[in-house]
Parts: sequence; C-alpha cells; structure tokens
Amino acid sequence: MSERFRLFIDGQWVESVSGEWFENRNPADRGDLVGLFAKGDARDVELAVVAAKRAYESWRLVPAPKRAEILQRAGRLLEERKEALARDMTCEMGKILDETRGDVQEAIDTAFYAAGEGRRLFGDTVPVELPDKMGFSIRCPVGVFAVVTPWNFPMAIPSWKIFPALICGNTVVFKPASDTPLSAVNFVRVLEEAGVPPGVVNLVTGGGGTVGTALLEHPHVRGISFTGSTEVGRAIGETAGRLLKRCSLELGGKNPQIVLEDADLDLAVDGAVWGGFGTTGQRCTATSRIIVHERALSAFTERFLERASKLRIGNGLDPATEMGPCVTEGQRDTVEHYVKIGLDEGATLLTGGERAIEGDLAKGWFYRPTIFTNVRPDMRIAREEIFGPVVSILRARSYEEAIAIANDSSYGLSSSIYTRDISRACRAIRDLEAGITYVNGPTIGAEVQLPFGGVKETGNGHREASHTVLDVFTEWKSVYIDFSGRLQRAQIDTHGVSGE
Ligand code: UN1
Repeated sequence: MSERFRLFIDGQWVESVSGEWFENRNPADRGDLVGLFAKGDARDVELAVVAAKRAYESWRLVPAPKRAEILQRAGRLLEERKEALARDMTCEMGKILDETRGDVQEAIDTAFYAAGEGRRLFGDTVPVELPDKMGFSIRCPVGVFAVVTPWNFPMAIPSWKIFPALICGNTVVFKPASDTPLSAVNFVRVLEEAGVPPGVVNLVTGGGGTVGTALLEHPHVRGISFTGSTEVGRAIGETAGRLLKRCSLELGGKNPQIVLEDADLDLAVDGAVWGGFGTTGQRCTATSRIIVHERALSAFTERFLERASKLRIGNGLDPATEMGPCVTEGQRDTVEHYVKIGLDEGATLLTGGERAIEGDLAKGWFYRPTIFTNVRPDMRIAREEIFGPVVSILRARSYEEAIAIANDSSYGLSSSIYTRDISRACRAIRDLEAGITYVNGPTIGAEVQLPFGGVKETGNGHREASHTVLDVFTEWKSVYIDFSGRLQRAQIDTHGVSGE
C-alpha cells in the first residue's frame, strides 16, 4: 500500500473530515504512485482557520527576532535535506534535479532573508509639527492568511509567502497545488521541526474549488496570497474585493526576449534555450516570445533550432536529462492544443510539435521542445500563456518595433534584451512594460532579494520577495506620542491664532 499523507491542523497530522484521499503520480512515469494525500474540504478549512485564528493571538506577540530564530532553523533544515527534498520534488512534478535543487535553494535563501527581516521590519520615524510630541510608523501583522500556491515551484513559491507571513506575525493556512502535495508536506514538516507553534501554519490539501474557495470566503481569513493562472486570480481578486480582504496575486506571463542585431548570438541562444525550455517552459517567467531583429534572424534561428532539437528529454532524476515532462496529462494536452492553434494560424513549425513517446518516454507526459517561426504578434500563440515547451519567434525591423511587440501583451512579468549597445539596453530598461527586465540574460532567474512580480494582468500590483513583500503581510500603524501634558491640535495650534 502506498504511503498516505495527512493534513496538518493545529500542530497535528490528521485525516480529512471526509476520510477521502487523492492520488499524486509521477509525470515522468504514471505507473509510479508518489502517494495518497488527504482530500480536504470546507470542514477541514474551518478547523484550520479556527486553529490559525487562535494561534495568531499568541504568535503576534512573539518578538520578531524570536520568530526569526525559527525561520533560521527552518533554513538550516532545508539545507540539510536539500537533496532528498529535490528528489521528491522531481518525482512529483518532473523538472530535472538541478532545477529542483534550485527550487529548494530558493526556499533556503528566502528563509534566511526573511529571518533577517526579524531584526529590521523598518518603519519611519519622522519629525512632527507640535512640540513635545513624536511620530513614527510600525508594521503590524494582518491576521490569518490563506496561501494558495502552484505546482511549478512547489517549495520556492510557498516559501516566498509563508516565511514573510510568519516573520510579520501572521498565521497561515496553506493550500498547495494538488499536483505537488508532497513538497508541501515536506515543507510543513520542516516548519514543524523548526519549532513553529501549533496552529501557526496549517496545511489543507485538496481541490482549489473546495478548499481554496472556503478559505477565501472564510470571515476569519484576513488576506490571501495566490500564485497561479490569471483566470483563477481574477476570480479570487473579485471575491477579495467584495469581501474587502487583502489580496496579493501573482499571475501569468508571456515573457519576451529581444535579440537585437548587435547581440552576442551564442549568448542569446543560451538564454533562449534556458528561458524557453527550462522547467519544460512551465514558469510564469518562461521565455515564450523571442523577438529578433531581422538582421540577426536567420543566424539566431539556425543556432536556436539546432540547440533546442538536441535537448535530451527524460526522467528528471537521470543526470543526463535536460528537460522533463509536462506536469500532467492536462498540461500536455494544453500544449498540444496550442500547437494546433499555431499551425492553424499559419505559423511555421520549426521543430517539435509532437509528443515524445520512444521507449520509457511513453510512460510520461513528454512533449518535444517546440519552436514556431513566422509568428505574428496578433496570433494566439504570441498572446496567450501556454505554460509548456513552446517558443515563438517574431521578427522586428528596429529596436522601436521590438519594444512595441514586446509590450503588445496583456501580461508584463519578465522581459529581456540582448544587445551590446548600452544606450539601447538602458532604453529597454525604461521602455519595457514588465516587473522584471534582464539585460543579456534570459527571462528566468530571479533572486529573492529583489522584488518579484509584474504589471498589467500579471497581478494586482504587489511584489513578492525583497522587503517589498512586507507590504503584503503587514498593516501600517502610525503612532503619535504626546508628552506635552496638554491638548495640542495638529494643523491648528501650529499656525497660531488667525491674523497673528
Ligand atoms: C515562476 O516562474 O513561477 O525567476 C517563479 C525565476 C524563478 C522563480 C520563477 N526564480 O524563474
């Protein structure tokens, strides 16, 4: 019998109220059952939220440097277990070991970064206009937070949300993607062992429609932090708006890499291969549009095609593998669907465009690295997020046209430009409508000490990572202390009697 993994509520590992379980299978080998996971519903959410609300009353009073000590322990435990955690992650979502190690590393970096905030959490101390009075601002926790996360970064993304939420004094109910519950269990075990008190972090696995909705609508949940599709994010944002809840949304992307005629083409090809096919294209920051100056187009395309068509596809545990499977059959079908759309729209398929099924690959959801060229900006494959190993090449006649094409998108997460011309690089930093711009680097590879997030339909204006994430997880309080011993009226007493 395969291993069963429970919910974590109020410091206990418990079965769901329904007693039901769901399967988690290895996308590289669907015969490999990773485990059975408790299927939570609204009743489990109720228990978890009540626990989180109760725990909040004492957790908010723990000094932030003390909370930081727990995060530091969590960071050290993640370091010790990095290899095992990475292997589990590869087994449940398919990306190659180098990348799952990177995913765990991003959680480690975030643990230590957030722990550092335990001795900062800066506010402002400012002069005030009246004598014998002082003014300053402090960050206060919000309360119970719902944390709802995707499968593509099963440990990094939860860490971006949960560590800052905790350092600020919030408590959390965590609902991970149903395709990566093992990494969520592993992460919560680390928090438990690091000494997070009961009820401060609760884990409810189960469907987004049931668990996610119940969490969002629960009156004691004061905020939600969500990473996922724009479609789901829009619905969450609407509900959160109606209920006046704090809501941070990190959504889709259609990230462009611009290659100008003076670019180092080998470097640009390296970037395109990594940005387009790393994580099997399943990153919100993945490169999905490559906008190439017409003078560099044929040389770039030839080299990119050569590299992409030689990528070794396979099980991510095999060190020789360069690209793993799509995460699920559904995701593979979406890729297939978009390839058909691209062909129907008249784009030219350069390579890929089919499942990879030779040998053991038939056991998983493998799809070949796919490149379309002669893609026009108005085609759906150039506009909609595919979330798979499909890259479109678009032609530009000038820097200005390349920027216009790049910005002709409803999304604005990441962007990149390859050029040797410092002036055009700086103009692109200014002109690209995106939350992240790379110069001479691919669209993926964000580090945790800089803000992460995007403009337009990529989100609702918040930024994760960096100290900017603190604005999601804290409320500002302005404090005035009057030690004059008399009533002093701001804006009035400071300006004396009228006519004076
Ligand atoms: C995501 O694409 O969902 O910048 C997150 C990167 C990673 C994080 C990606 N550090 O590509």
